[in-house]
Amino acid sequence: MNSDEILRRISELKEEKNAVILAHNYARAEVQDIADLVGDSFALSQAAVDLDADMIVFAGVHFMAESAYILSPQKTVLLPDADAGCPMADMVTAEALREAKKRYPNAAVVCYVNSSAAVKAESDVCCTSANAKEVVAAIEEDEILFIPDKNLGHYISTLTDKKIHFWNGFCPIHQQITEFDVTAAKAKHPSAVFLAHPECRPEVLARADGVFSTAGIIKYAAASDEKEFLIGTEQEMLHKLMKDSPDKSFYSVSKYSYCASMKMAALPAVLNALETETTKIMVPEDIRVKAKKALDRMLAAVPK
Ligand code: 13P
Ligand code: SF4
Repeated sequence: MNSDEILRRISELKEEKNAVILAHNYARAEVQDIADLVGDSFALSQAAVDLDADMIVFAGVHFMAESAYILSPQKTVLLPDADAGCPMADMVTAEALREAKKRYPNAAVVCYVNSSAAVKAESDVCCTSANAKEVVAAIEEDEILFIPDKNLGHYISTLTDKKIHFWNGFCPIHQQITEFDVTAAKAKHPSAVFLAHPECRPEVLARADGVFSTAGIIKYAAASDEKEFLIGTEQEMLHKLMKDSPDKSFYSVSKYSYCASMKMAALPAVLNALETETTKIMVPEDIRVKAKKALDRMLAAVPK
């Protein structure tokens, strides 16, 4: 099948099955271009609830599809490649979290959405990079165990007086962006504004002009009067940045910022998912109900 035939068949099946395609900002450019919504983790999880569809094809990674199912179990949620995992999400298990909770009995567990359903089920509230500051401010407790991203946790600790205990998790793609990369990129593009994702190391964020979720970076760049931007996050972001702001220039701070898991939802895999429905994401009901409480608390903490 050539790509035109694949696209035609995807569109037929979408209509037949009342399906939507949700794509993360790191998804392949050609998949973003046919998606019903392209966004950050927060926008996509809200869309999973709000969209009137029977089926969601999630061009993202496992935890995103799982969150969509947790919030909207009446919909069929498909991840085009079931192996598309997030290495950071695998850096905390429910068992390890239960042990840590014994060490910090007074701390509320704030769980970055990049985590499994079982871990969310053990947590008090979830957050994404778009709302972590508001979620931390909204909870009663002054002591927090922030899992699993130590970099996002550290960034939030600079914005609150609350005591935050960090977990030793990180995103390998953001962790490999170094301060040296920032120095080199700034030397090459001295007038560029540097926008970074909070999964970057503290010393990289300290050099940033703005720290935002993926959608926040796109929004900031589109609204800005500046013309050149250095981007400290996954490189596929440049696709939407250039599409939304064709008059501006964008440069990746590191040429190694590539999330392979995010590329697994290629067009043939999207078609296969729609055709066969063999890559359904589901969560056992007892875990789903507990995990949903943590996600619902997040959604309630931030205005729509
Ligand atoms: P956003 O929520 O900012 O889109 O980030 C998700 C992610 O996985 C970043 O690595
Ligand atoms: Fe996970 Fe990092 Fe890929 Fe985001 S970019 S999905 S945090 S590995």
